[in-house]
Order: sequence, then structure tokens, then C-alpha cells
Amino acid sequence: MKATFLGHATVYLETSKTKIVIDPFLTGNPKASAKADDLEPDFIVLTHGHGDHIGDALPIAKRTGATIISTYELATWLGSQGAKASPQNHGGWCKYPFGAVKFTQAIHSSSVPDENGRPIYLGEPAGAIIQIEGKTVFHAGDTALFSDMKLIGDEVAIDLAFLPIGEHFVMGPKDAAKAVEFLHPKVVVPIHYGTFPPLVGDPKEFARLAEGKAKVAILQPGESVEV
Ligand code: NI
Ligand code: MN
Repeated sequence: MKATFLGHATVYLETSKTKIVIDPFLTGNPKASAKADDLEPDFIVLTHGHGDHIGDALPIAKRTGATIISTYELATWLGSQGAKASPQNHGGWCKYPFGAVKFTQAIHSSSVPDENGRPIYLGEPAGAIIQIEGKTVFHAGDTALFSDMKLIGDEVAIDLAFLPIGEHFVMGPKDAAKAVEFLHPKVVVPIHYGTFPPLVGDPKEFARLAEGKAKVAILQPGESVEV
């Protein structure tokens, strides 16, 4: 399986049979390495409702017919706007032709502003465990460090993890390195840093702190890892 980092928290998973995009934020993303129209996913996995995660999900879903897999409130809300949607909720596996998806806890929030700037809440934020053609990918979404990450690492052998390290809105490098200890993935890719000024977390610091716990792959937008 090839996993390409498209900038910020956007990840594109490709096998010979299936393409999945996670948190497609390309339009308005200063670090995006692709355009929304370049992607032809079969499925779109969304961790939470913030604009830098749902981003282009709706137009991509409408153009390609891809199914949006997300938590109940977010998936049904996007489904009501014309997307094909598969609502799940935290803790339960759901099977798909490519494998299965389970949403985990994430300590964060999930909303979009209404026309007056007031938040419309979109359920609980999540991380996503994606089993695809025999490989296990964990995308933590936006989150703080939490000790129940140990349970995730104990349940599944993670081949590839994407962890936010940006500080301010999510974990910084130090907490993310602790998360690596809990999750013990084979390969970890730091994400959600450097896109906007508050996201100051340094991937080199993360790599130094996580050294020996997992193979750290610092990907520039557009770069891939094979697992
Ligand atoms: Ni967020
Ligand atoms: Mn975010």
C-alpha cells in the first residue's frame, strides 16, 4: 500500500484495488500538494468537522461518488447535503470491501461556524483505524495525548501511524512522541504542523524524541511511504 501525505492532515491511501483519502483539505491549504479535482477516491474518511479536515470532502464525494465514512453526526450531516455516507461511531468495527474501519477517541472538538460565527456541533471528534488490504493505518485526527492510546496499540499492530505534532490545537512533539510509545506503530509520520503560524511543532524534534520507538518518516507534501 502506498500512503501519500498531501499536506496538513490529508493522507491518500492507494492499493491496486482501493483509494481512500483521509481528511481532504486541499482548497485553501497553503501546503497542499494536490488539487481536490486530482483525487479519485473510492472512500473518504473524516476524523472531525473542522474546516481543515472536512475541507473538500463534499465536492469530492459528489464528483466521484466516493462514500464518506465518519462518525454519526458528521456523516449524516454530509449525507443530507448529497454525499453517499456511511455513519459509524466510536469503538465499533465496520466492514468495507477494502477491509474495515474503527473510530477511536480523540481529545479535541468538532464543529463548523454558522452564519453568525456560532459553532454548530458535529458530534465527537475521532481518530481512525483503517484496515486496508491487510495493512493497518492509524490516523489520530486532531487530538491531545491520552493514555488510552495504549489500548489502541494493544488491539491492533499498526503498520503506519499519522500523528499531529503542531502544538496549539493538537499535541506537540513531546506528547506525540509519548503517543508513539503507547501506539508502537512500525512507521510514524508527523502531520498537522507548519500549515498555519500557530502550528509551531517541529518534526525534527519529534523525530529525535521518537527515535528508537518507531521508524519516523518526515514526509514533505506529495511524498509517499510504502508499507
Ligand atoms: Ni480540528
Ligand atoms: Mn485540525
